[in-house]
Amino acid sequence: MYRTHTCGELRIENKGQQVTLAGWVQKARKLGGMTFIDLRDRYGITQLVVEADAPAALVETATSLGREFVIQAKGEVVERQAKNAKMPTGDIEIRLSEIHILNRSTVPPFTIEEESDGGEDLRAKYRYLDLRRPPLQRALALRHKVAHEVRNFLDAKGFMEIETPYLIKSTPEGARDFVVPSRMNPGQFYALPQSPQTFKQLLMVGGYDRYFQIVRCFRDEDLRADRQPEFTQIDCEMSFVEQEDVLGTFEEMMRSLFKNVLDVEIPRPLPRMSWYEAMDRYGSDKPDVRFGMTIHEITPLVKGKGFSVLEEADYVGAISVPGAAEYTRKQVDELTEWVKRPQVGAKGLIYIRVNADGSFKSSIDKFYGADDLRAIAAAAQAGPGDLVLVLCGARRKTQNMLGVLRLEMGGRLGLRNPKEFAPLWIVDFPLLEWDDETGRFYAMHHPFTAPKPEHEKWFYSDKKEDLERVCANAYDFVLNGSELGGGSIRIHNADMQKRMFEVLGIGPEEAEYKFGFIINAFQFGAPPHGGLAFGFDRICALMGGQDSIRDYIAFPKNNQGRDVMIDSPSEIDAAQLEELQIKLDVKPD
Ligand code: AMO
Repeated sequence: MYRTHTCGELRIENKGQQVTLAGWVQKARKLGGMTFIDLRDRYGITQLVVEADAPAALVETATSLGREFVIQAKGEVVERQAKNAKMPTGDIEIRLSEIHILNRSTVPPFTIEEESDGGEDLRAKYRYLDLRRPPLQRALALRHKVAHEVRNFLDAKGFMEIETPYLIKSTPEGARDFVVPSRMNPGQFYALPQSPQTFKQLLMVGGYDRYFQIVRCFRDEDLRADRQPEFTQIDCEMSFVEQEDVLGTFEEMMRSLFKNVLDVEIPRPLPRMSWYEAMDRYGSDKPDVRFGMTIHEITPLVKGKGFSVLEEADYVGAISVPGAAEYTRKQVDELTEWVKRPQVGAKGLIYIRVNADGSFKSSIDKFYGADDLRAIAAAAQAGPGDLVLVLCGARRKTQNMLGVLRLEMGGRLGLRNPKEFAPLWIVDFPLLEWDDETGRFYAMHHPFTAPKPEHEKWFYSDKKEDLERVCANAYDFVLNGSELGGGSIRIHNADMQKRMFEVLGIGPEEAEYKFGFIINAFQFGAPPHGGLAFGFDRICALMGGQDSIRDYIAFPKNNQGRDVMIDSPSEIDAAQLEELQIKLDVKPD
């Protein structure tokens, strides 16, 4: 038997027992003839001690141990002289009678402790060593727990977990596909699923009225802290449901997850906000509602005063930053530079300081008198001591910039506490989004989303204004400024689906080629259905209090989409290319 206990298990109650532990040497140090060894496994750390008067061979072995050696150690559980209250095993140590070196280790390239001295790249290259560190162990344990709770919950609700294929045809989720060449069908390619969207709908046609899957999805898109090229969804679909049924079911799932995993209560029912309100008040379709500082339109208040910048603006909006009136000129200048960065994209920033005595100081004093500034400050809900920040330009774009500025100021003021959870549903999305560049509509969610029944009259109209008014029965689950999930009630009627492709500028031939299978399926008694998918990695990261999903994935990719540990992607053999009948035009550098 390699071990009788784990390294996280022994307590003062075990005093006097003979035990065998196995694990990794985190540290070995000599102290006045005694050797102390910290032995680690994923359950914890236990201190081992070799006394000064132990047999010479044992002392020698203990002295020879290097970091990350794998050993088996036998001995007696004794009470520690100097207890360590910070360690669960800190009351005891093991007085050793035997050590067996099971494997030696090269000196690891970074320290494998709670805090490591290794940089991100180095730790990524040796991910298997980084995985030995407690923060990653906690992250993966949390991930396991969340998956387990999801399965328990959905199983109890009658959902069946069904797998769907990875080698498929392009799915329209808005990103680029990863493609895989087919050797048996030269010149043809599979696409990896951006989500199982079409398959889960086909499962509904197949009669599996409650489906879920914890499933890998693949999207070739620019990466960010909360985006990986392969990520995991909790993908769900239900038949014979309306929006309320879907929201009710998954609200309950999230509530039970937060309760069982974190012992956190989230509101019942969850607040809901329309997409329009989210854009107008938060400048974002995923508002962080842990704090106020909402956006207020002040367009009518600034007109007619001869300040051409605001005079010509389509939209003028403001936020009031509480307590920031004391910002110095230098700080306001720094903020102005901040909003001008390409990531925000504003041309400039106007400020109005509401002094403690109620007087004003602003960057537009030349054009606006105290009464004008008072009216603007009142509209922005600013009081004495607050700083009003104003941006102007095209409506949605400016709201978006104000939203980014709001998050930044919220962060600077410490209003974005990762331990506070403020979930909500965003509902009533527009069905379609017009793109000026390509001069066509895109599906805001995806092309299988149904218009609201009461808006169908506009859906069949040929007028752009009508189509822009159509709302969808679509919904996003948003938490702390992050989109954790999204879904919709689907189209289940072949004619309506055809109309959708037509609106999106997908001709009948292309629709048939790309989506003929689903239009066909809708001709065989497709039930009304709807569902949603949650970003599993994002749920785990947020529950763990992190912005980045990377530590919640055992083997993630870096920002260039590379796995630097296995060095992938990489070139393939000429023979492999030949077999696939693929000739490379560009030599990879
Ligand atoms: P959607 O595209 O909104 O919907 O994706 C659902 C959720 O998946 C997460 N997510 C990601 N997480 C990490 N890395 C990524 N690259 C990434 N992309 C998306 C987000 C998002 O809310 N088929 C539809 C769902 C449906 O209609 O049922 C879909 O995939 O948290």
